Amino acid sequence: MTNHTIALIAGDGIGPEVTVAVQQVLEAAGAPLSWDEHPAGLAALERDLDVLPESTVEAILHHGLALKGPCTTPVGEGFSSVNVQLRKQLELYAAVRPVRSLPGVDTRFEDVDLVIIRENTEGLYSGVENEVTPGVVMSMKVASERGCRRIAHWAFRYATQRRRKKITVFHKANIMKLTDGLFIRMAAEEHEREYPNIEYQEAIIDAGCMRLVQDPSQFDVLLLENLYGDVVSDLCAGLVGGLGVVPGANIGESHAVFEAVHGSAPDIAGQGVANPLALLMSAVMMLNYIADTRGDKECRRCAERIRDAYDQALKDGQKTRDLGGELDTNTFAAAVIERL
Ligand code: NAI
Ligand code: MG
Repeated sequence: MTNHTIALIAGDGIGPEVTVAVQQVLEAAGAPLSWDEHPAGLAALERDLDVLPESTVEAILHHGLALKGPCTTPVGEGFSSVNVQLRKQLELYAAVRPVRSLPGVDTRFEDVDLVIIRENTEGLYSGVENEVTPGVVMSMKVASERGCRRIAHWAFRYATQRRRKKITVFHKANIMKLTDGLFIRMAAEEHEREYPNIEYQEAIIDAGCMRLVQDPSQFDVLLLENLYGDVVSDLCAGLVGGLGVVPGANIGESHAVFEAVHGSAPDIAGQGVANPLALLMSAVMMLNYIADTRGDKECRRCAERIRDAYDQALKDGQKTRDLGGELDTNTFAAAVIERL
C-alpha cells in the first residue's frame, strides 16, 4: 500500500488541539498517511524562526500536500499573514470551500449545498498598502488577466467535473470597473469559450449577499475574488452551523494545502472544546484529492468511511458546543472513531 507523506502545520490557538484530534481519526480509519511536521505562525516565532520558515515551504513543495491548522495574524500591526504568504509563494490560486447542511445540525435552511471558489493570490487581500502622506493611507487592489482567467477556468472545470449546474460570480464591477470588471470579463469569456453547458450568472455582491441569506438554494458554485471570497465564506458557514463545519482546500498546479475556513479562535483556545470537524472534513477533501490525482483507491475508501462516521455521529446527537452539543474536541473525535 502506498503511503503518502503530508506536511503538517499544527498552527496557533485551537490549531494544535484540532490537529491532534484529526490525526487520531485518520489513524483509526487506517488512512495511508504519514506526517512531516513543520512550524508556522506564532508557533514558529516562539521558536525564534521566521513566521513562515523556508523549511516549512520546502516541505510542502517536496511532499506536494499539507494539512494545516489556523495561524494567528495580529490585527492592525505586526507581521503579515502566514496564510497570504503561503498561498502566494506556492501559487495556491484556488481556494475551494464546500458549504453543506449536515445531518443533525439544525439551521434555518435544510438543504444548503454551495461551493465557494475564491481567487487566492490577488485582489485587495494581498495587503499591499502604503502611507501616501501623513494621515492618508492606501491599499492596492491588483487583478491580472492571467490570475482572473486561471481561477475562472479552474472554477468551470471544477463545476464540470463535479456535475454542478451553475456558477455565479459576485462582484462590484459597477464601482471597481477595472479590477472587478476584468474578473467578470475573464469569467464570462471562459464560460463562452469552453463551458457553455454550465449556467453562468453575475451578481453585484451586496445584493448577492442578501439573496444568499434569504434563499441559498438559488446558488450553486460561487466564484469570487480574494477578499469577497474571504467574507462570503464565513457568511455561508453561518448558513450551515458555523465555522466548525466548513472545510477548505488551497490548490495550485502541483501543490495543495488543506485547512478549515476558521481561524485560531483565541476566545476558546486551550480549553479543548473546539470543533475538529472542519479540519477533519478538510482532511477528507485531502484524501479525495489524493485519490483523484494519484489514483489511490484506498484514500477514497478511507474518505468515505470517515464521512459516514461523522455523519452518523452528528445524527446520533454527538456534537461539540458550537453546534449546541456538550462534547469537547477529544470526545467528539472518539465518537467519530467509534463509528468508523
Ligand atoms: P476565528 O475563525 O478564529 O473565530 C471566529 C469565531 O468562531 C470565534 O468565536 C471562535 O471561537 C469560533 N470558532 C472558530 N473555529 C471554531 C471551531 N473549530 N470550533 C468552535 N468554534 C470555532 O476568527 P477570528 O477570531 O476572527 O480570528 C482569530 C485569528 O485567526 C486571527 O489572528 C486571524 O488572522 C486568524 N485566522 C487564520 C486563518 C487561517 O489560518 N486560515 C483563517 C481565519 C482567521
Ligand atoms: Mg477568512
